Amino acid sequence: MTAQGERTAPRSYYSDDIVTLLLGDSLAQLRTLGDESINCIVTSPPYFGLRNYEADGQYGLEQTPAEYVETMQSVFSEARRVLTNDGTLWLNLGDSYSGSWGNQGRGEPRPMKQQVHDGRYPNKGTHTGSIRPGQPPAKNLLGMPWRTAFALQDDGWILRNEIVWHKPNAMPESVQDRLSSRHEHLFMFSKQPQYWFDLDSVREPHKAPSRKAGARAFRARDLNHQRTATGSYEGPDSRGRNPGDVWEIATRPYPEAHFATFPIDLPLRCIKAGCRPGGTVLDPFSGSGTTGDAARRLGRKYVGIDLNASYHDLAVQRFAQGVLDFGPAA
Ligand SMILES: C[S@@+](CC[C@H](N)C(=O)[O-])C[C@H]1O[C@@H](n2cnc3c(N)ncnc32)[C@H](O)[C@@H]1O
Repeated sequence: MTAQGERTAPRSYYSDDIVTLLLGDSLAQLRTLGDESINCIVTSPPYFGLRNYEADGQYGLEQTPAEYVETMQSVFSEARRVLTNDGTLWLNLGDSYSGSWGNQGRGEPRPMKQQVHDGRYPNKGTHTGSIRPGQPPAKNLLGMPWRTAFALQDDGWILRNEIVWHKPNAMPESVQDRLSSRHEHLFMFSKQPQYWFDLDSVREPHKAPSRKAGARAFRARDLNHQRTATGSYEGPDSRGRNPGDVWEIATRPYPEAHFATFPIDLPLRCIKAGCRPGGTVLDPFSGSGTTGDAARRLGRKYVGIDLNASYHDLAVQRFAQGVLDFGPAA
């Protein structure tokens, strides 16, 4: 990582009228962007201890949860500077278990060769274990999304939503002594108490009640919610209902990428709600460019940063293929 405060030049890897891809460390490249030059940030950083992206300086291989949180705090502090005052940050994070490095962060600790795993964290990029005092014993759920969210809050971000991304087609886990995990977190932060948010663009159709009793409950509930200032009842909001904070979105991995990409439906929804039309969306962990693809589809501009040139190549390929190579988007 670049030393604190050190500035590098922007390292443009690709650019056209809509998309700019910067190659290099996220924090270093963020430092090259102007104050308040970005309207919305949608991103999924490497999760703690989950996988190796095969690039020097990659995040996620920190030795302790605290070190990881510190890294994220520095990155998102810089991201805050480049965000307009009415902008939002949508941060997707998954959790990990201690002692499960490289095992999708979720399963049982990997059997360590010629040693009994003692629950302490393994060395960066190895599975052979090292002594790190003060860490939770093996099999502890670490709560990494919330640790990170609280750190960002301490840094001045306003945490507006915890959205549970429910994955109906989540990968099965082989665990026998706990429930398998089928969700990740998506936090929505703002920089200021007032910010640009277009709820109408993400409203959902009302669910029609099928039975009489359901219909009565539906009417009563809406009556409570839809009273106007004068006290008269106006009926259900004709624009649709608030989609709520549990999003059921099936994973749709990008076939070319061998790492976790998020389904395009996720950034599509965030950008619709969080980025003004014609604005610029940033993903400081761009990967295969899913956020960029969503931004382009929605008529926004895109700035993506990644350490790995071959991931940018995937993104460029993807943008060149046109828009609808993933099937219908939500
Ligand atoms: C979870 S993936 C993002 C996937 C992306 N949302 C997509 O749909 O393709 C995380 C990305 O962060 C990148 N990365 C890891 N450490 C980085 C760093 N220090 N600076 C910039 N990018 C980094 C990895 O190369 C990887 O592409």
